[in-house]
Amino acid sequence: MLPARRMNVSTQPQSESIIDVEEHYQVATYKKFPFVVERGDDVWITTSNGDRYLDLYGGHAVVSTGHSHPRIVKAIADQAARLIFYSNLVYNDARARAAKKLVEIAPSLLTKTFFCNSGTEANENAIKIARKLTEREKVISFEGGFHGRTPGSLAATGLPKYREGITPMLPGHVYAPFGDTAAIAQMIDEDTAAVILEPIQSMGGVRMAAPEFYQALRAACDRADAMLIYDEVQTGMGRTGEFFFAGRFNVVPDMVTLAKGIASGVPMGAVLMTEGIAGEIKVSDLGTTFGGGPLACAALEATIEVIRDDKLLENVRANSEYLYAELKKLDTVEELRGLGYLIGIKFKSGNAKPYQQALLERKIITGVADDTSVLRLLPPLTLRLPEIDQFLKAISEMNFAS
Ligand SMILES: Cc1ncc(COP(=O)(O)O)c(C=O)c1O
Repeated sequence: MLPARRMNVSTQPQSESIIDVEEHYQVATYKKFPFVVERGDDVWITTSNGDRYLDLYGGHAVVSTGHSHPRIVKAIADQAARLIFYSNLVYNDARARAAKKLVEIAPSLLTKTFFCNSGTEANENAIKIARKLTEREKVISFEGGFHGRTPGSLAATGLPKYREGITPMLPGHVYAPFGDTAAIAQMIDEDTAAVILEPIQSMGGVRMAAPEFYQALRAACDRADAMLIYDEVQTGMGRTGEFFFAGRFNVVPDMVTLAKGIASGVPMGAVLMTEGIAGEIKVSDLGTTFGGGPLACAALEATIEVIRDDKLLENVRANSEYLYAELKKLDTVEELRGLGYLIGIKFKSGNAKPYQQALLERKIITGVADDTSVLRLLPPLTLRLPEIDQFLKAISEMNFAS
């Protein structure tokens, strides 16, 4: 008799509806919203029923320039017509321009980029680089941090539920309390390869630390000759109102990892690093077939141009200030967290889920967090006042006890 996992149980979808077919043939991963998305236009998506939803979750914090921005669409279409793909075995104009543009917007110490395909891959590579170059094992990350779902990034993830039941975890990882300057100064020592953190812990409930915390991390890493890695998969590419969190409070890490919004939805990741680190990396130390493909690079280049030309950093700064000020007036809100368009709304009721559900019924998409009292907004950087007012009106009419 075959073990149950090897048996061929031939079943059919309940119906030919897109939802049933997808549920039937795709491995269950996320709990999905109950609709089929067909089109996107800036901060709006349209479903197969013709319903329009305001997307304050930005397609999972990805569509930085809004859904299907015409300049991004044109850049992708033009590049696809010319050359969809060739790997790093050849030189390519789109890759050259993308690398130059990305480095130009980064803090001046970060002069080199390694392109890959996702956030977890960027973190895996950053950790690998730190361990290899320092010849040390210990990687310090933070309770409440999220860095991805593949073994290295998962081992650095400080939210235990993602690590449950997976053994053995990669060794050498330790977790520190986020924001605790005294504790961290003691933990960083001559055995430490790297300290990796989300400068704002998004999944952990949009938690940011005091400026002194980031400065103390930098100082302690310098003392121990350990590398400081910012995971800017969420905070990067304009979400906080600057291109990067790196540089804020005069702290520049040794490496910055990026993904999500950097190519407006075309899969892409990157590790930005200093000249000194890049200089120690030899040919064949790193690699990826798809990383730095021309299509993704064209999308990255266009994303940077749109953020600049459409003045999206200014838009995030001005409109987030208004949004925070208005949200603060609500009786239901206990605390507002975040920076720019990475927003956490902590409700007095301790439960954000009913708000998310009620907003969805009013055709507004938002996210929740590991901290269940927090509602997360990660809208496109193009979100402007009329839609902000629409959201404010909806949320001000809600009050849930728990
Ligand atoms: C801060 C952070 N790091 C890493 C990741 C992993 O990125 P990806 O899903 O592209 O692997 C995520 C994904 O949500 C993230 O939020």
